Amino acid sequence: MKQRMVFAFVAAAVFLAVAGTASAQGTFEGRKKCYNCHKGEGESWEKTLHGKAMESLKPTRGKKKDEAMVKAKLDPKKDYTKDKECVGCHVDGFGEEGGYVIEEPDKFVTNVGCESCHGAGSAYRKIHRKAGEAFEKSGKTMARERLVEAGQDFEFQEKCNACHLNYEGSGWKGVKKPYTPFTPKVDKKYAFDFEKYVRNDKAMHEHFKLEGTFTGPPMPKFHEEFQKTAKPAVKADKDGED
Ligand code: HEC
Ligand code: HEC
Ligand code: HEC
Ligand code: HEC
Repeated sequence: MKQRMVFAFVAAAVFLAVAGTASAQGTFEGRKKCYNCHKGEGESWEKTLHGKAMESLKPTRGKKKDEAMVKAKLDPKKDYTKDKECVGCHVDGFGEEGGYVIEEPDKFVTNVGCESCHGAGSAYRKIHRKAGEAFEKSGKTMARERLVEAGQDFEFQEKCNACHLNYEGSGWKGVKKPYTPFTPKVDKKYAFDFEKYVRNDKAMHEHFKLEGTFTGPPMPKFHEEFQKTAKPAVKADKDGED
């Protein structure tokens, strides 16, 4: 009897530890908060293909994309904005907590936004706020590892692959349905080259100078390169209250 209680206690502790990690990683919240503090990236992102990805699912996508649809054996006159075979790669966090829901589309998770690349933001954005305040007050820095624990991603490649290499025969090991209709078999131009694509500011966003609040690994190898040519930081509208 006693032993069973100990077992139940241990099981509950393990469960709490696992559940605790899950919530420490955060959930999707949408890009509204990010915008408060990262206006430059936000305004630049809006003009990118990712920033307009939902438009491609509407029958009003324009002639060039209609042609791409026909080539991929899709119907250019059909509205695909509610089609679960499509939306997952054209929005943030489809099927995940806080992410895009077809029946109740929230505009802040529509299109391929901040959290699709940087990770679900509810936990790490609070750390950004605190670290930013401490840095401003006393110049105190924080290790990027703290952000990883809170769900921020610095590798990027797996995130890109989940949309760009999600088709049979791509060589990516996470492949699962629904696949992207736009593969190199349809047109060579759809071959995904991470090193080249990640440097395409027209699809990502322009880069702005960081002050160095966060330091150390993990730091992508293109971080220094982007920072060298980054634009001056844009002042935030407000200080992004919680
Ligand atoms: C309350 C303000 C605030 C909010 C909200 C916020 N951030 Fe930040 N963020 C900061 C500050 C401050 C820094 C450090 C800037 C610096 O060093 O110049 C930062 C740094 C970053 C960095 C660079 C990290 C590095 O490698 O040094 C990224 C990427 C980022 N934020 C993305 C986001 C995303 C995505 C969101 C929304 C989910 C978000 N932030 C929300 C204030 C904020
Ligand atoms: C949630 C899915 C998703 C993620 C994650 C994602 N993308 Fe995309 N990407 C898309 C979609 C959808 C388009 C096409 C947008 C359109 O035209 O409607 C696109 C377009 C692009 C383009 C433009 C291609 C062209 O035709 O000019 C580039 C470059 C690109 N992505 C690079 C990346 C990189 C690099 C990453 C990772 C850092 C990434 N993407 C992450 C879905 C995604
Ligand atoms: C597994 C992820 C994924 C799914 C599912 C998906 N897409 Fe996309 N879609 C992408 C990516 C990635 C691109 C960008 C390809 C590139 O330019 O390299 C894209 C691009 C597009 C484009 C622009 C093509 C061009 O050449 O400009 C259209 C239109 C589009 N998708 C419509 C759809 C429709 C309709 C569906 C459902 C039948 C769908 N997508 C399902 C990932 C996906
Ligand atoms: C398609 C992927 C992608 C999307 C979408 C995206 N980012 Fe980024 N972001 C990156 C990459 C890659 C970097 C470069 C990281 C580095 O240099 O360490 C970056 C860097 C940043 C930085 C660091 C400073 C800079 O300008 O380089 C901030 C802040 C940031 N992003 C905020 C945002 C916000 C806010 C959004 C949404 C409005 C967003 N990002 C959307 C991929 C993306």
